[in-house]
Amino acid sequence: MYGASEQVLGAALEGRRSEALVATKVWAFTVEEGQAQVERALGLYGGVVDLYQIHNLRAWTIQLPLLEELKASGSVRALGATHYTPSAFDELRGLMLTGRIGAIQVPYNPLERDVELDILPLAAELGLGVVVMRPFGSGNLLSTPPSADDLEPLRPFGVTTWPQALLKWILSDPRCHVAIPATKSP
Ligand SMILES: NC(=O)c1ccc[n+]([C@@H]2O[C@H](COP(=O)([O-])OP(=O)(O)OC[C@H]3O[C@@H](n4cnc5c(N)ncnc54)[C@H](OP(=O)(O)O)[C@@H]3O)[C@@H](O)[C@H]2O)c1
Repeated sequence: MYGASEQVLGAALEGRRSEALVATKVWAFTVEEGQAQVERALGLYGGVVDLYQIHNLRAWTIQLPLLEELKASGSVRALGATHYTPSAFDELRGLMLTGRIGAIQVPYNPLERDVELDILPLAAELGLGVVVMRPFGSGNLLSTPPSADDLEPLRPFGVTTWPQALLKWILSDPRCHVAIPATKSP
């Protein structure tokens, strides 16, 4: 579902796989479909994926046992689950409470703070890794950036641009560990 991303990342890491932590996702309805996706990804990353996530909780009761087997065999280091919408957070919370995953991926930015209610507190309580998607609100937070004067108080913290401030807002929260901004323009 993410086009050629997995192949591109695999090619970029050729000869230096050990320098990176790779996270990817399974997004499948059936065991066979999930198995095929995972085998393909493992082939691209030297047989190891550091964080394997179930995308949008899709068929998680079916996909999780497959990922658990791979974790037991050492091909996957940590298991996670993602969802992008607060209406799914009850189900996500239920999965977190099973103790079967080590990480979650959720949206979090100054315009979308639903995870503050109970997802982030529970993740901290359970010691789960938290990957934050949509750190710039899918770009909505970048259309009217504060002035350079307004950003001045953040300079001592190494922050000189508005996107940096938004990333720091997430990463200075000890309950959050990774932010994944997207860009077409490196
Ligand atoms: N269901 C899910 O699991 C789910 C749902 C949503 C998102 N995600 C993931 O979350 C990540 C982020 O999602 P997103 O693209 O929706 O949101 P985002 O990272 O909050 O925002 C991306 C937008 O910010 C702009 N941008 C990035 N860096 C910038 C910079 N330094 N200065 C100015 N503009 C900048 C990009 O424009 P340019 O391209 O022009 O730089 C793009 O329009 C992605 O990796 C995505 O795969 C997952």
